Formats: sequence, structure tokens, C-alpha cells
Amino acid sequence: MSKRIGVLTGGGDCCGLNPAIRGAVYRAYDYDYEVFGIRDGWRGLIDGNLFKIHLQDVEELIDKAGTFLGTSRTNPFKIDDGVNRVLNTINNYGLDAILAMGGEDTLGVASKLYKEKGVSVVGAPKTMDNDLSATDFTFGFDSSVTRGVEAMKSLEDTGKSHHRVMILEVMGRHAGWVALYTGLSSGADWILLPEEKPDIEGMCKQLQRVYSRKKYALVVVSEGIELPGSGEEEEELDQFGHMILKKREIGQTLGDIISEKTGIETRHAVIGHMQRGGIPTVFDRVLGLRTGVKAVELIEQQEFGKLAALKGNEVIGIPLEDATSKIKTVNQEWIDLAKVFFK
Ligand code: F6P
Repeated sequence: MSKRIGVLTGGGDCCGLNPAIRGAVYRAYDYDYEVFGIRDGWRGLIDGNLFKIHLQDVEELIDKAGTFLGTSRTNPFKIDDGVNRVLNTINNYGLDAILAMGGEDTLGVASKLYKEKGVSVVGAPKTMDNDLSATDFTFGFDSSVTRGVEAMKSLEDTGKSHHRVMILEVMGRHAGWVALYTGLSSGADWILLPEEKPDIEGMCKQLQRVYSRKKYALVVVSEGIELPGSGEEEEELDQFGHMILKKREIGQTLGDIISEKTGIETRHAVIGHMQRGGIPTVFDRVLGLRTGVKAVELIEQQEFGKLAALKGNEVIGIPLEDATSKIKTVNQEWIDLAKVFFK
């Protein structure tokens, strides 16, 4: 009898998810598996919301952002009877294995279901934040940074014309990879990351120095940084205990500080969720396809509890536990590299 597998996507959507689903379904076709799409992440297994996926459903997904399966930030371990309902759905549909595509939270649930409940699960590494350990890159990151760099180009055009400091606030609650890569590749004059306490005096001096040379300056700030006056309101938490950053307006607060301290006119823009959509880059398309294919190969080889991870230029299976025990943040070496360009 052919195997039945279920595929889900959890957490924030990003580019590369649809290509990854496509890769998984195409590989499953080789093994004659039946593939079920699980709607809206772990929520679909709690509610029994699944549908059969055919090759023609995924054929044209290569260049589409988002996830055609839908997603949510649902944690079955935080919902009454959630885990039992997940197990019942797996049983009712006769699923032999689950492929979970997600970041630290979604894969953390996968790892727990594998370890504590013996569920046959494998993972694929998605997240625009690139903060998943044990994989060199996650799909979604490259496209998000590309959106950020495009936005910086527009800010540079207008900032140069008006002789202003222009700030772009990008996503990244706990890890600054998106801010770092956006800043480095757009020639930003200062970058603020959640990993480092902001050096307001150093930043203002640097912006004045740059301004005296080119009459404008560019700053990238991660939404997750702490500034005097930010984060005073009580933050709402999601089911994984992460802050929902809707009201912090870090770009605005930073702009006020810069204009007050330097006397230079300053404007800011928040890229927000635009950073998660658009046209997936070639890198994300190919990484999505490769990890989707590899994840199904892990199922075929009965290598459960593993993640299809990028190591160098190889996609290999590594334990989900290694990927989810702590997030990957920007280290000092990277921070020092960024500082080379603050002159
Ligand atoms: O976890 C990915 C992420 O893009 C974060 O960088 C961001 O803070 C968050 O999602 C926003 O999530 P939501 O879509 O729930 O507003």
C-alpha cells in the first residue's frame, strides 16, 4: 500500500514556501505517495482540516510567494486537548508521516511531537528571519532582504534629494539578520540590531560625519531593538510566547532621537509585511525546492525527527532538536564587519 503523508506550513509566511511544497509533492509522486495538504499549520491537524494535493495543484507554484496551504501561529501544546486532537487527525487520515515547514516555533512543535508522542515527522527550514540554528540559510530570508534593499534604494533617492537621514524599519523581533543583510547590501551608514545595545551617541556622530560628506544618510533598524521610550506599553504575546510588535513604532522613535540630537531632518518608513511577499528570489525558489525534495526523501528513508537543512552547498538531514533548541542570532564577527562601513 502506498504511503500517505501530510504537509503543513506554520508561522509567518515567506517566499520559498510554495516552491518547497512543490518540491515535496513532486518527490512524493516518484514514491507513489498520497499527499494531503494540512490547512493553516498545526491548526489544520487540530481541526481535521485537510485536502488531497495533486501534481497539478502545485505545478505553477514556483514563482508564487505565500503558502497555498495557509498558515497560523498555532501551538497544539498550548490548546486544551490540542495534542490529542492532532494525534486523532493523523490516525483518522491514516497519515504515515508529517512534513512540517516552519521556523523555530513550528519545528519546535514537530520536535516535541516526535520525541514525546512518537509522531513520524520531518521538517523544512522556512523563515524570513534566518534565525533557525543548524541550517546555513532558511528559505524566505533572501527574498525579504531583497525587498528591503529595493526599499532602501527608494529611500536613498528621496533622502539624497531632500538632504535627510532616511530610516528603514525592518522585521526581526529577536534576530537582526534581515537588518544586517539589508544594511550591508544597501550601503547603510548605521544598522541597529536586537543583539546589540544601541550606541546612540556613536550613531549620531557617524551620521553627522557622513552627512557632512554626502548630505544625506541611511539607517536600517530592526523592529526588535530597545530604545529609551520604546516598549513601555504592555505587549501582547502569541502562543509561542513572542511579543506581537504592533504598537512600538521603533522607526518613528529613532527618527525623533536622531533629528533632536543631530539637527538633521529625518524621515522613516516601515516595510512591514511587504517584506514577506512579492517575487521569490532564485535562491529561495531553489532552496525551497531542494529542502522540500529532501524532506520527502527523509520520510522514504524513515529518518524521522530530522530537518532538511542547508550545510555548505549540501542539503542534509539533521536532528530537529539541534535546529530548535536555541535561535541563531547575529554574532560579534558580523557586528564587527558591519562596523567596517561606519566611517
Ligand atoms: O517570525 C517572522 C516575522 O516576520 C517577524 O520578523 C515579525 O516580527 C513577525 O513575523 C510578524 O508576524 P505577524 O505576521 O504575526 O504580524
